Amino acid sequence: MAKKKQKSARRATVKAAARKPARKIVKAAKKKAARTIKSHAFKGKGGLALSGVRILDMTHVQSGPTCTQLLAWFGADVIKVERPGGGDITRGQLRDIPNVDSLYFTMLNHNKRSITLNPKTETGQKIFTRLIEECDVMVENYAPGAIDRMGFPWETIQKINPRMIYASVKGFGPGPYEDCKVYENVAQCTGGSASTTGEIGSVPLVTGAQIGDTGTGIHLAVGIIAALFQRERTGRGQRVTCAMQDGILNLCRVKLRDQQRLAHGPLKEYPQYPNIPFGHAVPRAGNASGGGQPGWIVKCKNWENDPDSYIYIVTQAAVFPAIAKAIGRADWLEDPEWNTPEARLPKLDQMFEEIEKWTMTKTKFEAMDILNPLDVPCGPILSMKELAEEPSLRKTGTVVEVDHPTRGKYLTVGNPIKLSGSPTTVTRSPLLGEHTDEILRKIVGLSKKEIEEGRKSGVF
Ligand SMILES: CC(C)(COP(=O)(O)OP(=O)(O)OC[C@H]1O[C@@H](n2cnc3c(N)ncnc32)[C@H](O)[C@@H]1OP(=O)(O)O)[C@@H](O)C(=O)NCCC(=O)NCCS
Repeated sequence: MAKKKQKSARRATVKAAARKPARKIVKAAKKKAARTIKSHAFKGKGGLALSGVRILDMTHVQSGPTCTQLLAWFGADVIKVERPGGGDITRGQLRDIPNVDSLYFTMLNHNKRSITLNPKTETGQKIFTRLIEECDVMVENYAPGAIDRMGFPWETIQKINPRMIYASVKGFGPGPYEDCKVYENVAQCTGGSASTTGEIGSVPLVTGAQIGDTGTGIHLAVGIIAALFQRERTGRGQRVTCAMQDGILNLCRVKLRDQQRLAHGPLKEYPQYPNIPFGHAVPRAGNASGGGQPGWIVKCKNWENDPDSYIYIVTQAAVFPAIAKAIGRADWLEDPEWNTPEARLPKLDQMFEEIEKWTMTKTKFEAMDILNPLDVPCGPILSMKELAEEPSLRKTGTVVEVDHPTRGKYLTVGNPIKLSGSPTTVTRSPLLGEHTDEILRKIVGLSKKEIEEGRKSGVF
């Protein structure tokens, strides 16, 4: 009974809000802004780190969805707003099963709710305004200016809800390219990753790890959590922005280090030293280690038939004697041509050739089993197949099997960040608009009739 009364009161408020002049709506919103995060704790997520935080998720493709998925895994109530009709474009991209949400979409949108809504319509504007009032954080990664063009620049969002944290991913920060649209590989090229990745003297390479999209999404999530923490003290929201170029450059920090070292002489740990001259910029260095310890990828047994039969070995000075003995080259330890790091530096290629002669007699796992007890940092090249089947990753929830109503069971990467007091349960991604009615009724406060009317006119 009490619930019924509450509902009709909420409906009445929405109807009244639609009639109120803008000044009154803003005043009401300011009043609401005084509440704490806990005021709308999301049922069922009481024990998680971000319980009670509600996210207005205006993200699409990969970078933004990565960020909001992470926040959902920490317990936030993430409401994904999608365009009526098609939704997030990735629902239909790289489909493996006809008419079923793609793995591209499902693997980036777990633990969220989906509402379809067009904020560009008159009613859509009002509903979107209500959602801004009711949420703590808004995240978006549309093209520069897209959210402004919808009628919601930061100034307006702040007026509607002064506690709102408004977070965006863009390709570039302020500067000559700020208006450009950007995808993963463009960011890898403009952020310093491609120029420093690849074989020596060969074309720049992009990496398979989605450091531009997923990497920037993670950066953004850190910014949002910091802003939420600050809001606890100040009571005010703020703007959080992360450019993909900046995120990549942050991940390429060691290469900017080397750029400055280059001014003082050749980079002696790079494989081109001393035979290939250095230019003015940090060159590509094949599989050389990014740190001060020599490392390389060497072949293992059956490499001719198995494209992943390789192991990475780091030959730091402290374990060099153990490596020399293990590969049958104990003679190096008495030889001044080999027994100091300085003596080895100009002939690292020869050293790794010798190591490879040994690793080619072992599988990558046998080599690891021998080298690990000797404290040699090394790692087999694991294929996606091997990772998908690895029992320890299943056990920790890093690889998870999820059931989906239209696609059935599939594997995904779970939350790689483990909080002892906030364990993650991965739940399936929502179907397009699966929660539209529920959100419009319970959060926005619309009546059944209003929902029917809005649906007929294509607002949601
Ligand atoms: C990723 C990107 C290149 C995609 O570009 P795109 O497919 O052309 O999509 P846009 O971002 O331009 O958005 C398309 C339109 O959808 C509209 N739209 C989004 N949600 C909507 C909704 N719920 N209802 C109605 N329209 C909606 C936008 O308003 C925009 O319209 P406009 O151009 O008329 O203003 C671009 O969004 C971008 O550069 N984003 C920032 C960087 C980024 O995150 N890149 C990595 C993506 S993984």
